Amino acid sequence: MPALLQKQSPCKVNLLLSILGKRPDGFHELETLMHPVNFFDRLDFSRTGQQLELTCSDATLPTDSQNLVHRAATAFLQATGISEGVRIHLEKRIPQAAGLGGGSGNAATTLLGLNELFDNPLSPEKLDTLAASLGSDINFFLQAKPALAKGRGEKVTSLDFFPAMRGSFFILIHPGFGISTPWAYQNLARFPAALNGQPGRAEKLIQLLQTSDLQTAGREFYNSLEAPALDKYPILALYQEFLREHGAAATLMSGSGSTTFALINSQSAAEKLLERFKVKFGAAVWTAVVPV
Ligand code: C5P
Repeated sequence: MPALLQKQSPCKVNLLLSILGKRPDGFHELETLMHPVNFFDRLDFSRTGQQLELTCSDATLPTDSQNLVHRAATAFLQATGISEGVRIHLEKRIPQAAGLGGGSGNAATTLLGLNELFDNPLSPEKLDTLAASLGSDINFFLQAKPALAKGRGEKVTSLDFFPAMRGSFFILIHPGFGISTPWAYQNLARFPAALNGQPGRAEKLIQLLQTSDLQTAGREFYNSLEAPALDKYPILALYQEFLREHGAAATLMSGSGSTTFALINSQSAAEKLLERFKVKFGAAVWTAVVPV
């Protein structure tokens, strides 16, 4: 039983996020193709004291029950009946309100980390149920493999890594402002075509990623939530145009934004492209290059 456990908490991009309509419960039915990105926050877990204590490297983040890590740890302790204290520290590197799933990844990593710390009291099925109760994107991060997700995002089918993306690099560009997920979903109502997509796009893209090249598959990348986001922030459309014109094989906004990602075939091409991007758009944006 480890005294201190450190775990990396990855992020994700959505290669496709197609909304199929609004549900009676207020959530949106969707199909999405999610891909893990090896850019990480870090979580430290230790068994100590009487209560749950959460600290965070980013002082702007709440450390009470508003934080998904706190909620995940509380749910874990309740589900297992464990009354011991737990200390958790979150070292934050992934930008927030960025469409990268940082908070959801933190919640999933908390469930996995505490389960490991206490010698696996919960089965994978029980962890899946807990994850779904905490949010829509959290189940994906229990596996952190490429996945097709349906329902409100919690029904996850894991997939193998895609041949078309092998050896390529993610470019991540955060514009310096965040987009709130509830805002993006609420404002979809103004874009009926984006709100009521036809099912089947995700399966088509999966097939292309398995059998075709990245350029071809990239033409099918699609995100319904771009409709409200690019309407309010046209700069995000300019980012994509620039990336496409300067060698990216594919580019899209991730999740509910505000991060734009692109795929490109080599690290040096990614770095050169980012240099030109910064000349055009200024250096005051957050960027990263991550191997797929
Ligand atoms: O489930 P999660 O906390 O990630 O969702 C945040 C918000 O995004 C929800 O409260 C809801 O407004 C919106 N949402 C939605 N349909 C989904 C997922 C999220 O409307 N499938």
